[in-house]
Amino acid sequence: MLRMVPLPRFAGEERASRLERGNVPMIIPCDDALAALRQRGVASLPPTGIVLGSGLGSLADEAENTISVPYEDIPGFPVPTVSGHAGRLVVGEIEGRRVALFQGRGHYYERGDARAMAVALASFKRLGGEALFLTNAAGGLREEWRPPALVAITDHINYAGANPLIGLASDERFVPLVDAYDPPLRDRLRRAASEAGIDLQEGVYMWFSGPSFETPAEIRAAKLLGADLVGMSTVPEVILARLLGLKCLAVSVVTNFGAGLKGGNPSHEETKELALAGSANFKRLVRAFLTHHA
Ligand code: HPA
Repeated sequence: MLRMVPLPRFAGEERASRLERGNVPMIIPCDDALAALRQRGVASLPPTGIVLGSGLGSLADEAENTISVPYEDIPGFPVPTVSGHAGRLVVGEIEGRRVALFQGRGHYYERGDARAMAVALASFKRLGGEALFLTNAAGGLREEWRPPALVAITDHINYAGANPLIGLASDERFVPLVDAYDPPLRDRLRRAASEAGIDLQEGVYMWFSGPSFETPAEIRAAKLLGADLVGMSTVPEVILARLLGLKCLAVSVVTNFGAGLKGGNPSHEETKELALAGSANFKRLVRAFLTHHA
């Protein structure tokens, strides 16, 4: 498991080294990752990064003039254990705009590590990243959202109880999360969607740890608590990204109704199948966003 900074344990023990304020990207050490990337021809990254979730990775295969590095060659990057997640960093052009595509992600449920994406995101920041577009497959809690609807995330509820910043020995850990999903970027995405004639909903995403899907009772509880979507990713990445000072934008492809809702009984097969069915519209949305608004 990644250690960010040694923690002081009890009074009298040696204190953890103090971090300089304003040096937040250094909180997550990623020098080995940067060295590996440099060795493979990636000395800098474009300002826009996209994390491609379950069944959405094919966007990276459409990029042009690419450099591609498997996560397993980059120290600290998460080697995926989930089918539907390739595990490659692809730097290339989409609609003539250079982007960093994270083709697959690490999830909390894979190793019990909420920092699964910490080194990947810190490396993005250190090499020039400014804005992070996160994507995922999610269960929908609104009966009017027929899969594979596209939904821009406006806010989240951390129901998994884990947090990637636990254990960070610095006041930087108290990350504010008001407007974590950047309102100007959301505006631009909305405009891109409307110009491209794509139906884009908005809603609140609730993070469940997974890997089991929710029970119908949990879905009823999630609705009562104000969620519109449920899923097993994205939230720890947004928390890390905000620590790093990256702007966030996030979109879910609704692959199913939440468990018990309109007969919803999600499975990983259904998630992959419906994400694939939604991927054409999803890719049009990303392309429209990159063309006019990134
Ligand atoms: N729950 C959690 N994660 C998901 C779901 C769901 O219903 N669908 C796709 N990812």
